[in-house]
Amino acid sequence: MPVVQHTATSVVTIERFIIEEERLHPTATGELSGILYDIALAAKMIANKVRRAGLADILGSTDSSNIQGEIQQKLDVFANDTIVKAMDHGGRLCAMASEEEPGIIPIPDGFRTGKYCLLFDPLDGSSNIDVNVPVGTIFSVVQKITRGRHGEMEDMLQPGRRQVAAGYVIYGSSTMLVYTTGQGVHGFTLDPSIGEFLLSHPHIRIPDDGRYLSVNDSYEAQWDEPTKLLMRKYRGLEGGRKPLSVRYVGSLVADFHRNLLGGGIFCYPSNKRATGGKLRLLYEASPLSFICEQAGGAASNGVERILDIQPSELHQRVPLFIGSKRDVDLAVQTLAQRSELVEA
Ligand code: AHG
Ligand code: MN
Ligand code: MN
Repeated sequence: MPVVQHTATSVVTIERFIIEEERLHPTATGELSGILYDIALAAKMIANKVRRAGLADILGSTDSSNIQGEIQQKLDVFANDTIVKAMDHGGRLCAMASEEEPGIIPIPDGFRTGKYCLLFDPLDGSSNIDVNVPVGTIFSVVQKITRGRHGEMEDMLQPGRRQVAAGYVIYGSSTMLVYTTGQGVHGFTLDPSIGEFLLSHPHIRIPDDGRYLSVNDSYEAQWDEPTKLLMRKYRGLEGGRKPLSVRYVGSLVADFHRNLLGGGIFCYPSNKRATGGKLRLLYEASPLSFICEQAGGAASNGVERILDIQPSELHQRVPLFIGSKRDVDLAVQTLAQRSELVEA
């Protein structure tokens, strides 16, 4: 049953919307609602820094690098610490995992633990911070499946279809929080004058007949032939389809958000340098795939549904084709030639 029908003009705060959604689940304990509140709070704190990045000594990189082997931007570290501090004492989580930390982030002794795990990319699109291109935060919530109070790796390594909530924040021309708990996808815009996220995009649906192709084609020389053929099809150079407009800013959240609202497809194919793809399964591909499917779209690694992939390690990477269902289907159909080539 859908949440209470709101239109984009009714003034509904995210807190009120979360409570109304919670009421639709008679067995709800309010823990998941509490997690969403706390994420909204962390998002406001990060947005406040991002908005003043050039003035708040938050630009540029630190002298440390993360498990990904990437130099951490100051804002990566600030966003990561803000989320951990906002979430670790609420008593709803049993553990966290972040792109910026090598292993599981435990709930400190002395704090109550709960039945959920939070996995997140605290600052997505870090390379864009210093040039004022939109960046984001991505989060995923799963329920604990192991016994005992504290979260374990097995709790983290669940396939994306087990998520109970997923969302992202885009720090763009406005700050938006978009999330799903399996009851559709809803977008909230931060009104900085009152410090509230207000419902602005109820029941988001991705257009079937999309407009945009989002891919970094500087890797074209490193793609295999089926991938090159696929991109030619999206561009209308092969197969007789209407060409998609190419848009790519290099922040997954910004590229995905545009495609969610405008339709089309975002592709990060595997290439000779990143044979398993670049994007991370647990806190980039999985949460956005949950959102995309809830909005009527699809997401694949080129072979199988992202949400069906059984993770084997915390920071594993996947190729990603995500967007309007017909465009994702075309990717799977075209890349199937790989196995035909191998079998031949
Ligand atoms: P992050 O900043 O969290 O490491 O993510 C960066 C990702 C993603 O945001 C984006 O889609 C992709 O990197 C861009 O990669 P390329 O620069 O290789 O296109
Ligand atoms: Mn990222
Ligand atoms: Mn990141």
